[in-house]
Amino acid sequence: MSSTTGAAVSSASPASTASNAHLPVHVAIIMDGNGRWAAARGLPRVAGHRAGAEAVSRCLRAAKAKGVEYLTLYAFSSENWRREPTEVADLTSLLKYYLRHKVAELHKEGVRIRFVGDLGRFGPDLVAELERAEALTAGNAQLTLLLALSYGGRGDIVHAARALAEAVQRGDIALSAIDETALSARLLTAGVPDPDVIVRTSGEHRLSNFLLWQSAYAELVFLDTLWPDFDEASFTRVLDIYARRERRFGARPA
Ligand code: IPE
Ligand code: IPE
Ligand code: MG
Repeated sequence: MSSTTGAAVSSASPASTASNAHLPVHVAIIMDGNGRWAAARGLPRVAGHRAGAEAVSRCLRAAKAKGVEYLTLYAFSSENWRREPTEVADLTSLLKYYLRHKVAELHKEGVRIRFVGDLGRFGPDLVAELERAEALTAGNAQLTLLLALSYGGRGDIVHAARALAEAVQRGDIALSAIDETALSARLLTAGVPDPDVIVRTSGEHRLSNFLLWQSAYAELVFLDTLWPDFDEASFTRVLDIYARRERRFGARPA
């Protein structure tokens, strides 16, 4: 399970071909704006989270239709535990509902599901459900969905640093063997290519502790759309914006 072992998955199938050279292999999204969407309608925040769950289904459908291989969705940050206990409880039960009602359907559609984050904080019952969903879908190859739950980028790096220190202490690797590859391999996202593009909805312009290591060369796309309004057209818009960006990775401009 990604929360403890960071076990590697088989690497992505051959990335870009001539016809999809501008298609991102990995899209990561900070799904923000549920509360404001609800407030604008005079509804409780939980109504925004419910509508946000429907946007997740639309987003997944669009990602699959476009041929994106990895979709990472930031659903709950390590800092979101600071919210009112009632909101945390609402989010947790929504997650349970989503797992019970959607996992079989996702499995049928060939979606592999992985969870990344400090999952133990959700308690053993939910962890068992997350593990079942991962095990059921482990052989799927259409699209890998990474759901970031109780996830924090700094926590991810600390967890990897500790794993490296332990490996050195045990004598499994030499201190001189610690490099970027060795650290990446111990992140919760081990085996997954870095995101090509990170999207944030709701007009906020920050990462809020999302994929801090993995975002080194990601293209950043900020949309004003509130997450519950995100649909297939929004996804296409992201791909269009991405296709117009020039990625140089520090090399001389073409
Ligand atoms: C994103 O929407 C969902 C989570 C962070 C769980 P918000 O709940 O942050 O919505 P706003 O930012 O208050 O509008
Ligand atoms: C980031 O949104 C986390 C998720 C979308 C899951 P927040 O709404 O929690 O972020 P801040 O507090 O505005 O930075
Ligand atoms: Mg927010």
